[in-house]
Amino acid sequence: MYMNTSENTGFSFKAELNTKEFNRLSKFIMTEYGIKMPPEKRIMLQSRLQKRLKALQMNSFKEYVEYLFSDANHNEEVIHMMDVVSTNKTDFFRESVHFDFLLSKGISTLANDMQEKNINIWSAGCSSGEEAYTIAFTMSEYIENNPGIDFSITASDISTKMLNIASCGIFHEDRVLNIPVSIKKKYFLRSINRDEKRVKIVTDIRKKVTFYRQNLLYLPMPSKPIFHIIFCRNVLIYFDRENQFKILTSLCNHLKPGGFLFLGHSESIAGYDLPVNNIQPTIFRKN
Ligand SMILES: C[S@@+](CC[C@H](N)C(=O)[O-])C[C@H]1O[C@@H](n2cnc3c(N)ncnc32)[C@H](O)[C@@H]1O
Repeated sequence: MYMNTSENTGFSFKAELNTKEFNRLSKFIMTEYGIKMPPEKRIMLQSRLQKRLKALQMNSFKEYVEYLFSDANHNEEVIHMMDVVSTNKTDFFRESVHFDFLLSKGISTLANDMQEKNINIWSAGCSSGEEAYTIAFTMSEYIENNPGIDFSITASDISTKMLNIASCGIFHEDRVLNIPVSIKKKYFLRSINRDEKRVKIVTDIRKKVTFYRQNLLYLPMPSKPIFHIIFCRNVLIYFDRENQFKILTSLCNHLKPGGFLFLGHSESIAGYDLPVNNIQPTIFRKN
């Protein structure tokens, strides 16, 4: 006897995303969010979207694509789709050279040379918040030995799923294994129920960071730059050159003269005309 594969047979039903449906989705993702979606990503997109089809109890991508582009569902479904489309890999103290630079040189340059007392920082493409919280730990460490300045961090992403994790500030213990004990003791609380193996960022640090949803491809033009420091790391790799330039130009418009821009280890500004100087690999300063 044979059963329908979608029944509980141990085999799971997988809908197929055909080329026409893929092209429609990839064109939309590229135009609206700048994320490159070449044909070789079809299977990846198909597999990542299976859970949306399951959640919506749909059996085909034809149905899903119609649903996504319908006026009634578009705004909400795009948020869910981008949650699964985006690649969110991150870590505390990822590319630690940037935090070493801030602690040894960057913050004092802003505080002493530029006489800044309130340092505004933006973690653009913050994923689940580890980057923004690491910046907050670094700022706090500096201020502990050099009182008299304060800071605030704005952290943005397109994935609401990641932003929800980020604003809760609760992480599995495995995520903090490699953080120095002195930092862990100061900035994390352990769950009372030890079986949960969770840690939570202390309130004083969480209060310093504001998370919000922002599409980097369509940033509004600021009336004046307000950020002293911008981190936009491991985000531009997902964009083509034209959109990379568009985003970098916009980030520079948000950065104060003398402010610092940090990019990811495999990202560069080579060939782009931008108002910044390269002061160390992946660290730039606005003219
Ligand atoms: C690989 S993570 C990098 C996280 C962190 N910056 C780091 O380096 O650890 C890339 C993040 O960029 C976000 N992203 C991708 N396209 C975006 C867009 N158009 N606007 C805002 N965020 C975007 C993704 O949702 C993802 O969380």
